[in-house]
Amino acid sequence: MAKDETQSISVKVMRKTPKEKEFSTYEVPKVEGQSVLGVLKYIYDNIDPGLGFNYSCRIGLCSSCISRVNGKVVLACTTLANDDLVIEPYKEGAAVRDLITELPPVIKSLI
Ligand code: FES
Repeated sequence: MAKDETQSISVKVMRKTPKEKEFSTYEVPKVEGQSVLGVLKYIYDNIDPGLGFNYSCRIGLCSSCISRVNGKVVLACTTLANDDLVIEPYKEGAAVRDLITELPPVIKSLI
């Protein structure tokens, strides 16, 4: 992946505790071919190690990274991060903390 130092994307991430929710906004370098999960990992590794999110396989098989990105439910590991992002839990009320959620029942039944 080629890193473009001249551009960045704005990423709003839902932060949730059992008592409240709000968005945190981050500026992240725009990297060609980077996934939404790659953006979340960049934020965790370089900006905010307190950010909570799920992932496992990173190849679109386990569904643990399921999220709502710009209003659409997707797998964060297989969705490209080409433009500004708003990242939320895949379903209202599903978050335990930040983007960490209980898996949907249909996925739980496959595990
Ligand atoms: S991490 Fe497994 S589907 Fe995304």
